[in-house]
Amino acid sequence: MSDSLPHRIAIVGATGAVGLEALAILAERAVSADRIGAFASPRSVGTTVPYADGHVPIQQITPDAWHAFDTAIFCVDAQTSRRLAPPALRAGVTVIDNSSAFRLDPRVPLVVPEINAELLDDRPTLVANPNCSTILLLTALEPIRRSFSIERITLSTYQAVSGAGLEAIAELRDQTRAALDAKPRAPRVFPHPCAFNVFPHESPRDEHGYTQEERKIIDESAKIWPAEIPISPTCVRVPVERAHSQAIVADLAEPITREQAEHALRIAPAVRLMTDSDPTPLQATGKDDILIGRVRIDPTDPRRLLLWVCADQLRKGAALNAIQIAEHLHRNRPTAAQPDRPAMPRNPSPHSLAST
Ligand SMILES: NC(=O)c1ccc[n+]([C@@H]2O[C@H](COP(=O)([O-])OP(=O)(O)OC[C@H]3O[C@@H](n4cnc5c(N)ncnc54)[C@H](OP(=O)(O)O)[C@@H]3O)[C@@H](O)[C@H]2O)c1
Repeated sequence: MSDSLPHRIAIVGATGAVGLEALAILAERAVSADRIGAFASPRSVGTTVPYADGHVPIQQITPDAWHAFDTAIFCVDAQTSRRLAPPALRAGVTVIDNSSAFRLDPRVPLVVPEINAELLDDRPTLVANPNCSTILLLTALEPIRRSFSIERITLSTYQAVSGAGLEAIAELRDQTRAALDAKPRAPRVFPHPCAFNVFPHESPRDEHGYTQEERKIIDESAKIWPAEIPISPTCVRVPVERAHSQAIVADLAEPITREQAEHALRIAPAVRLMTDSDPTPLQATGKDDILIGRVRIDPTDPRRLLLWVCADQLRKGAALNAIQIAEHLHRNRPTAAQPDRPAMPRNPSPHSLAST
């Protein structure tokens, strides 16, 4: 039995790509099924989702249902999170939200435990999980940022279709089969065919032509890292089922050697340096670590570091990061010897957000 996690945990959006991964991670941590609540839309009530060696039923979300849980991991779209978080908070549930709903709210900590776990010390009741590409970029570069000052980042992403949810995986499979059979393949989830194709990230564009995904990386990184580092991202969807890849160029304040960069990456948590072979999304699939390879220093500029990164965005980029947050919060829970501390100003009180 795992006691590194809260006693009763609700997974909201348990039938989706992130929710199913959250359940798989809880099962790996030997959390017994009777401590889990699985919730989804009314469409799924009455069905079940796999859990450990069995299944758990999908329950209906009602105001009363929250009272049975200490913590809820929200794996739903932003609009649904905005609707469901206030009643959960009012019922005293700690909410860890995977959507973009609260990420830039100054009252809500945006946390990657390897970078800013100290924001959890005050036991916030609502914590936002960053965007998957943001988590992967920042976790990969954190060991470099801590030892060498980074002045600018240029990023190209190669994002798996599962970043757009379960339906997108079905679309890639259907279109691949159809293409091999020379049948028409109309896109439903994406604006373009995703099989045998690549295209700019499908999210809406702002007045500068940046996609929402690119804007999230810029804005969320500015909130998470203590000093803002300019980032120029280009986000691209590729016909990969699962695990995002990133080509990262980091311009540093001082020259760096490849040995120095590799040493910093080798001793860092959550990343695995690969020197004998190159990381691929298939290798990263189902793994907790962020795989980093092709560490190079630009021969024309010894301050420019180049990395190739592959990581499972459903794990460290979403469900795993959320569960790590739950584990940190659980470690910080009040005990009889350590009475409840007053919330610090940056943490939302359940009531301030309960009314949003
Ligand atoms: N996919 C990723 O790699 C990734 C990474 C980081 C963050 N995220 C974020 O995580 C969230 C979930 O993404 P996903 O990829 O898992 O999406 P998904 O596969 O499309 O799953 C969506 C989930 O939300 C549930 N849902 C939809 N409407 C609902 C409602 N009205 N009430 C309750 N539940 C509802 C769905 O339940 P039904 O099955 O009943 O419809 C399903 O369980 C999104 O905010 C996404 O941006 C995703």
